[in-house]
Amino acid sequence: MKWLLWKAFTSLILFFGAREMFNFCFLSQAYVDSSVIMGQTGQFQTRVEKYENIEYMKCTPENGFFPDLSTVSPTNIIFFCSPNNPTGFAASREQLTKLVQFAKDNGSIIVYDSAYALYMSDDNPRSIFEIPGAKEVAIETSSYSKYAGFTGVRLGWTVVPKELLFSDGFPVAKDFNRIVCTSFNGASNIAQAGGLACLSPDGLKAMQEVVGFYRENTNIIMETFNSLGFKVYGGKNAPYVWVHFPGQSSWDVFGEILEKTHVVTTPGSGFGPGGEGFIRVSAFGHRNDVLEACQRFKQFCK
Ligand SMILES: Cc1ncc(COP(=O)(O)O)c(C=O)c1O
Repeated sequence: MKWLLWKAFTSLILFFGAREMFNFCFLSQAYVDSSVIMGQTGQFQTRVEKYENIEYMKCTPENGFFPDLSTVSPTNIIFFCSPNNPTGFAASREQLTKLVQFAKDNGSIIVYDSAYALYMSDDNPRSIFEIPGAKEVAIETSSYSKYAGFTGVRLGWTVVPKELLFSDGFPVAKDFNRIVCTSFNGASNIAQAGGLACLSPDGLKAMQEVVGFYRENTNIIMETFNSLGFKVYGGKNAPYVWVHFPGQSSWDVFGEILEKTHVVTTPGSGFGPGGEGFIRVSAFGHRNDVLEACQRFKQFCK
């Protein structure tokens, strides 16, 4: 099927999951660790807690979770995740237009991760290709993991437009296909059959129901932290709630919550230096567990 899709679109490639894309191709900000393992970064700089050869684009409440591109040094590859994990923020059409222009001006390729697009509840773009000119500068990758619980099954896809060319005019899609076909034997037939079932009318309905269920979980978590007086971000366009603990270390907050409530959150600084002072709370869970966790948060904050 991979071949059939390749023939039909000349630009759509199926992966085991979205993550394989990051590991095998380019330096990733989203998955810094993978890039380190692949030997694409420089040394870790302890003083600033950053790797060399990565330009970190800080996304915080101060800049509306979108980087100030006038201060960002050009790179070959720009990894951009919207709706974002961990902040839950989704970029607007205007912001994405600026990003596309920035990539054009600097000869960069955007790798756009839209793994949470189905969770969006506002009318911001679901795909970078909604932006005119994006096909000349962007690749988009996504996954069934968050839509249909394929995290273990492994199936994702990547769109590499025909219009995307290296500076010498050679199509990126040709190199991409070569890398993929050399590195993988393709997604299993079982996984692909599952993916096709997801795209049937029943499958699409089931995915909407799953997303709706997690959206309800997200609302419960948002309400809990709001009622406790925390500054809370995200939740609207992704199943993550980004909770601010100003002046505190993410790891300290994570440790205290774990010890006192036995609930596992994720320390924000684990996503990069811009996440310091935050924790991420995930809505991917059974309803009773989410309710129980929220009850414990309330006890913890009494
Ligand atoms: C933004 C984002 N992209 C991609 C992935 C990985 O997806 P997959 O399971 O298809 O590798 C994740 C998983 O956590 C994610 O949060």
